[in-house]
Amino acid sequence: MTTTPVSVEALAVNGGKPVRETLLPYGRQQVSEDDIQAVVDVLRSDWLTTGPKVGEFEEAFASQVGAAQAVAFSSGTAALHGAAFAAGLKPGDEAITTPLTFAGTANSVLYQGATPVFADVCSDTLNLDPERVAERITPKTRVILPVDYAGHPAETDSFAAMARSHGLIVIEDACHALGAEYRGRTVGALADMTVFSFHPVKHVTTGEGGMVATNNSRFAETLRRFRNHGISSEARQRQSAGQWHYEMVLLGFNYRLTDVACALGISQLKRLEPNLARRRQIAARYTVAFRELPGVIPPSVRAEVNPAWHLYPIRLDLAKLSGDRAQIFRALRAENIGVNVHYIPVHTHPYYRSRFGYRAGGEYPVAEDAYERLISLPMFHAMSDEDVADVILAVSKVISAYSR
Ligand SMILES: Cc1ncc(COP(=O)(O)O)c(C=O)c1O
Repeated sequence: MTTTPVSVEALAVNGGKPVRETLLPYGRQQVSEDDIQAVVDVLRSDWLTTGPKVGEFEEAFASQVGAAQAVAFSSGTAALHGAAFAAGLKPGDEAITTPLTFAGTANSVLYQGATPVFADVCSDTLNLDPERVAERITPKTRVILPVDYAGHPAETDSFAAMARSHGLIVIEDACHALGAEYRGRTVGALADMTVFSFHPVKHVTTGEGGMVATNNSRFAETLRRFRNHGISSEARQRQSAGQWHYEMVLLGFNYRLTDVACALGISQLKRLEPNLARRRQIAARYTVAFRELPGVIPPSVRAEVNPAWHLYPIRLDLAKLSGDRAQIFRALRAENIGVNVHYIPVHTHPYYRSRFGYRAGGEYPVAEDAYERLISLPMFHAMSDEDVADVILAVSKVISAYSR
């Protein structure tokens, strides 16, 4: 896109008029009257926690993502923990994952007393690089844990092939990728277990919530027990069977998702397709606008995927700019565009540094270089056309002011 030159003085950060009067967040939920009614109906029913809505949500979700089973959890993080447990991760084991993710991905490995081993990402998609993963496989490796960064599916076929030859389990963190497609298949049954989140910035929300989808009934049974203290039956099953006896067969947690949340999830799931279509439309508008804007590199999309666009992370081409990421980030915020950064590489967080001795500067060059240049633009299905136009205008204004 062509832009008229903008002086740095015209930027809102320097006292100029902002592009918007009010802050546009980077992500936001959309709750309809039907969603509210669905929740109200449950509040008037007999079951607030694990009742009929949990199974109903799980079935609808499994069928949506093409998996045999789905098991609901109280958050995406709890679902990742469940998957790490069901995979049998234990002290001494290693799970290979990406540094460019939310800390919860790697933390799920730590919850099991196992060790997260990071491997660098591909320079185009910023997803876990299969070649780097292959270099990190040792006799201790038990799990490969790719993340579908920003909603672009990871290389699950490569990871599945590695898992077959080394006897490993693949857990796909698809918290960004509900509805994404990889080689014509929906993300949901491409890995041994696939984990989703229903945080409000996601495609479908339950407030807090998560899900593990799997075709493996043994994993599904373990997951159901793990989220319910390790107990082998649910209170509702016992009540309807007129029984009081139950057995705790493993050490689990209370990671249950409530019927109230599941009612919201069922109602929200009905709008997944239009939500995805809207996000894809917004991404297409951004990409057309930014393709020709010097200093901005839009996210890459590989030919074999259809991303779900949880995020729209641009990378700055700093050689073409007189400002760094922090300056451009601040300038966009001042224009009232709620930009964000995904992610601070996990190995550079103080906890990981002090526990594992990781440091920035060398071991994961692609992830670390990307981190210095990434900015996530607002991306959510409830954005209006005017919101999208404001983002494009603000990015063009700020980038133009900082162009060399
Ligand atoms: C990649 C990734 N994994 C895991 C999670 C954790 O999900 P939750 O916030 O539902 O616990 C998130 C959170 O947004 C995420 O982005």
